[in-house]
Amino acid sequence: MLRVLALVSGGGTNLQAIIDAVAAEKIQNAELVGVISNNKTVKSLERAKNAGIPAFSVSPKDFENRELFYEAFLDKVNECRPDLIVLAGFLVAIPPKMVAQYSGRIINIHPSLIPSFCGVGYFGLKVHEKALERGVKVTGATVHFVTEGMDEGPIIAQKAVYIEDNDTPEILQRRVMEQAEWILLPQAIDDIANDRIEIRDGKVIRK
Ligand code: GAR
Repeated sequence: MLRVLALVSGGGTNLQAIIDAVAAEKIQNAELVGVISNNKTVKSLERAKNAGIPAFSVSPKDFENRELFYEAFLDKVNECRPDLIVLAGFLVAIPPKMVAQYSGRIINIHPSLIPSFCGVGYFGLKVHEKALERGVKVTGATVHFVTEGMDEGPIIAQKAVYIEDNDTPEILQRRVMEQAEWILLPQAIDDIANDRIEIRDGKVIRK
């Protein structure tokens, strides 16, 4: 059984998609062993608790500086002994020490077709605002391995979503979640848990 730890920051709809996929056995050979949030009062922690998954919060507000926060966060991650860390709407940069320790074992879902609308400053609703501002006709979501560079790791899967004329960032965000994110992220976890993919020369290939 692959021990999966989810890191979250907000609403947790991607976390819910993982919880539901495990329950429906769409994800096999994996269990959610914990959820950690950088916020104390988010809906995602409630979702974890409702599903009987240990839920923790480690907030930067409780620490004097970023270093100390990162240290405490990594301690909590290590306590969960994860095989795979899933950034399921986690909007904090991952400290390099954690990326190094869990190299090839952290994945992220991003709400655009990388390399568009990604990198520093592109997270959550902002990504959709920028896509609408630019007037692109197609956007989507990407699930990828996490490396030190923000949103630069090997791409596992992508799914395109069409933009419609009257879209607002909120409407588009919801469509990208429904049509892409909630499908891609559970699939990627299932692929990893069942050893179907590997990284070769910086790219993800199917075995
Ligand atoms: C999701 O759209 C996710 O792709 C995005 O934040 C949202 C979280 O929603 N993540 C990023 O922007 C990462 N750069 P959720 O809490 O309902 O899953």
